[in-house]
Amino acid sequence: MPPGPSAPCDLETGADKLQRLHALWQQYGDCVRVPAASRAAATWLVTDPALIRRILVSNHRNYVKGVGIERVRVLLGDGLMAGEGAHWRGQRRLLQPAFQQAALGAYLRGFHTQALALSARWQQAARAGERVNVTAEVSTSTLTAVLQALFSEDLDDLRDAAGQPAFALVSEQSQRDLQFAVRFRALGAQIRELAARRRRERRFPPDLLSHCLRARRGASGPMDDKALVDEVLTLIVAGHETTAASLNWVWYLLATHPQVCARLRVDLRDLDLDTVPGREQLARWQPVARIVKEALRLYPPGWLYTRRAVHDDTLGGYHLPAGSDVFICSWLLHRHPDHWDAPEAFRPERFTAEAEAGRARYSYLPFSAGPRHCIGEGFAMAEMLIHVAQVARHLRPLAPTDAAPALEAEVNLRPRAPLWLRFEVCDD
Ligand code: HEM
Repeated sequence: MPPGPSAPCDLETGADKLQRLHALWQQYGDCVRVPAASRAAATWLVTDPALIRRILVSNHRNYVKGVGIERVRVLLGDGLMAGEGAHWRGQRRLLQPAFQQAALGAYLRGFHTQALALSARWQQAARAGERVNVTAEVSTSTLTAVLQALFSEDLDDLRDAAGQPAFALVSEQSQRDLQFAVRFRALGAQIRELAARRRRERRFPPDLLSHCLRARRGASGPMDDKALVDEVLTLIVAGHETTAASLNWVWYLLATHPQVCARLRVDLRDLDLDTVPGREQLARWQPVARIVKEALRLYPPGWLYTRRAVHDDTLGGYHLPAGSDVFICSWLLHRHPDHWDAPEAFRPERFTAEAEAGRARYSYLPFSAGPRHCIGEGFAMAEMLIHVAQVARHLRPLAPTDAAPALEAEVNLRPRAPLWLRFEVCDD
């Protein structure tokens, strides 16, 4: 049996989950067995890249999604995030083409427009000497970006009974409780109606909804309305909250590291920021990418991947019984001293091509790995790069006077309270 405490530990509830996982890892190492408080099977905390590879990649068929997935399923049904087995495989195959590099070009104009609008608002606030509620602003902006990618020309028509934008509650209400789930699932009716209208009118503008409507799986035809609604709701939540959380951390880190921000602004002078970038151009925005990647290292929004073993397995030479829960905590992995010097330091230069090539695979997993890795990685990176470049081009965040934001480690890792920052316009 791997090392670990003999008494049961609750790893699933409470505001200090991260600290408890951290303490177990510090005390027992990279493969820890923890008797569960509420189940017969134990939980294994795994922070060794080679073992993580086995769970997520080489023996992935033996692992299904684990602790917490029931709650996600209430919200997102059997969409890609929570689906399993043959249904998940078929849906992933249908959706994958819409997220391949070649397809991402379709979304870049929307990202650019969102970034310009947000940058203009922040410049106005900076000129007026006002603080910016970064959390609220990036939430609205990333929600709009994903909604545009999904519904394009029909977005403005999607309104609730009171005439308000249908999906506004996603960024207005931050709690992901049952009450939210009921209101959110009710939006499925709007998606069904819009889908029916597009089919009737044979109108398929180039967006993600059209992709879902037109995708066919061999002889089994198009996806049914239940699957369609589950996928659209999944993309809204998965495509918005993670990106929003990441941008909070990017701005917090730039505000607290003025020398990194100054360097970024110098690097930005070499980039063409006046036009909507193409994919080839974005590939050259390495200085911006390094900052985003380092923020994702320190504060990975998907901070915990939970899995459950279907059959027995052998992990690190230990026998792992079927039914065991496995926790992979990217927040710990990204602080592993075997892979990261001074893990707590914000150092974007960790992500130069040479530095990346010299690091163990599976030691950096903000988007997970294997068949269930994030389908939206390219989408999210493009969106964040454009956002950061367009804002940093004109604005410098000032060091906050408040204490560092407390972490909320629930479905995503985000600041517990909204992050407010002051910016300075600096068009040099
Ligand atoms: C910074 C932004 C993002 C981060 C850090 C992130 C992270 C992740 C991670 C870690 C997973 C795997 C979870 C697990 O294995 O348990 C995941 C899955 C997923 N993500 Fe993302 N994500 C981001 C943005 C997006 C965007 C923009 C979209 C869509 C527009 C998206 C859609 C999805 C979907 C559908 C899945 C489930 C994939 C499957 O199981 O087949 N994500 N994401």
